[in-house]
Amino acid sequence: MTTGSGDVSSIRIYDDADTLAAAAADDLAESARRACAERGRFRVALAGGNTPRLLYTRLASPELGAGIDWRRWHVFFGDERGVPPDHAASNYRMAAEALLSRVPLPEANVHRIRGELSAETAALEYEAELGDVPLDVVLLGMGDDGHTASLFPGTSALDERQRRVVPVTSPAAPHQRISLTFRALNEARRAVFLVTGAGKAERLTQVLAQRADGAADPATLLPSARVRPHTGIVDFYADHAAAARLPEEFLDG
Ligand code: 6PG
Repeated sequence: MTTGSGDVSSIRIYDDADTLAAAAADDLAESARRACAERGRFRVALAGGNTPRLLYTRLASPELGAGIDWRRWHVFFGDERGVPPDHAASNYRMAAEALLSRVPLPEANVHRIRGELSAETAALEYEAELGDVPLDVVLLGMGDDGHTASLFPGTSALDERQRRVVPVTSPAAPHQRISLTFRALNEARRAVFLVTGAGKAERLTQVLAQRADGAADPATLLPSARVRPHTGIVDFYADHAAAARLPEEFLDG
């Protein structure tokens, strides 16, 4: 089911996390093909956490990966934990295991946030690496507190207007994080949220309701309601469990 609501381009609902991952992988591969045709390369920021793992695994699958020109992909990260790349909590490690180690993506095209450094040093270095060329797609998860990337409610990172990458102290361990800011996320051509599981249902409903309220003061919104690319393209992928509390008006299109 594909609908739209408020400032959201589409809300795409799938039976379960597997079918969601398959659809999102096909969508991402198509976005990449289009970017490569138009601009010669595809710049994507990967999400961390657990939800995207299935998507990355699907992208690396022979049936899908074979049709992808990996040489033209440039992979960035929406955020990283303040840990080395081989640490169990590293977003890079998860992506490397599920995708990057399994496809012929040139190593120089993988732009890792160096979580092993101090968060401020890593943020400054990454801001230079990211540059000011917009990302084509930024993949994002949503925490059950409404955070996205490492933009947690109540943190000063939400107020950052100039920097594209900042150090963040997260309420959730690992507490030291590095995150793209709303400036960087909103400069992307497209944001794609991946939300699964019953535990996210209430918060997803709240976030989409906030996004539908055009009059709300951004400072009062949850971080996942504040990712608004200037292109206006924001798509939500949810499984039935996460979409279970959505009111009918979000599903009518
Ligand atoms: C991280 C992610 C974070 C994640 C959400 C959802 O570093 O953990 O950037 O924003 O996407 O916390 O995580 P799950 O997919 O594990 O629910």
